[in-house]
Amino acid sequence: MTLITCIEDLRRLAKRRVPRMFYDYADSGAWTESTYRANEEDFQRLKFRQRVAVDLNNRSLRSTMAGQEVAMPVAIAPTGLTGMQRADGEILAARAAEKFGIPFTLSTMSICSIEDVAAHTTKPFWFQLYVMKDRDFINRLIDRAKAANCSALVLTLDLQVLGQRHKDLRNGLSAPPRLTIANMLNMASKPRWCAGMLGTTRRQFGNIVGHAQSVSDMSSLSSWTSQQFDPSLSWNDVEWIKNRWGGKLIIKGIMDAEDARLAADSGADALIVSNHGGRQLDGAPSSIAALPGIVEAVGKQIEVHMDGGVRSGQDVLRAVALGARGVYIGRPFLYGLGAMGEAGVTRCLEIIRNELDISMAFCGKRDIQQVSREILLP
Ligand code: GLV
Repeated sequence: MTLITCIEDLRRLAKRRVPRMFYDYADSGAWTESTYRANEEDFQRLKFRQRVAVDLNNRSLRSTMAGQEVAMPVAIAPTGLTGMQRADGEILAARAAEKFGIPFTLSTMSICSIEDVAAHTTKPFWFQLYVMKDRDFINRLIDRAKAANCSALVLTLDLQVLGQRHKDLRNGLSAPPRLTIANMLNMASKPRWCAGMLGTTRRQFGNIVGHAQSVSDMSSLSSWTSQQFDPSLSWNDVEWIKNRWGGKLIIKGIMDAEDARLAADSGADALIVSNHGGRQLDGAPSSIAALPGIVEAVGKQIEVHMDGGVRSGQDVLRAVALGARGVYIGRPFLYGLGAMGEAGVTRCLEIIRNELDISMAFCGKRDIQQVSREILLP
């Protein structure tokens, strides 16, 4: 049994166990990947202020995100094709999250459908929505999320157009995977993954295939996205979506103070400072660099969350110190899932919780609610 001590261990194991096409899909950014790298690197620039001889008994990481109780201020980010990292991936990750006591966010581009995840979990999860040209389909998706008792809608605004990820084009990313000789040889070297996929019927985009008109399979993700996603999306759409949904609304993809004000004025419950994990606008600043300006602009009006580059509990602590009410992890949980299924997602969450708890203690704090800018050096 491989000893797993950190997220990097999970990443290495996932790289061995997941077919290259899907590992690369998760582990890549747009164009030169400069924003993808900056997301991680900029966290390292923030240095902690260590304190000693402070009573560190009875520590607590409990908090709330969008009004919901969380065991720590971390949620699972919506990620496309999660059920291709591991068979039934969304169900496994949702189960790990619910046992741990943090929110799981199901992507529109998931393999397991909304109904399927609901049928295999006991607590409400969050649903992430992309706005596509077919508005009837969007209305039905919103209604399906309501019917499945989802407790927040995460509306992504930064994917009207798609950033180019070189590896996806080279690998011919599709679901189900296109059976080229190179892909078949690569899959043949991943027996665990193959066995899982042979044992499940969930191999297509479960929310879409059979629900959206004229979609039977999505040969190429990039061409499908450019055909279906709506480049004309505007704040007026946010309003009708908010009204149709009627529940907690979280707006994802904010990188600018002006947009943050519009998000706050839209009446959303929270916004997520996010550059889509460096997968969209290459050359945008890191999310952690953008966070303070947005907290400054709208932090009194709306809850501010962030994602992008979080690889440890220390990173969660840094984001909370800079004013994030909570953070989302995407790649770390995907690595856990690809490496070890549900147990790997649980391990990922345990690692992050432990790093967060101990690092908070080193900064002389017992309660995550007391963490603020003062735990960082100027
Ligand atoms: C969106 O679904 C992405 O691939 O980043």
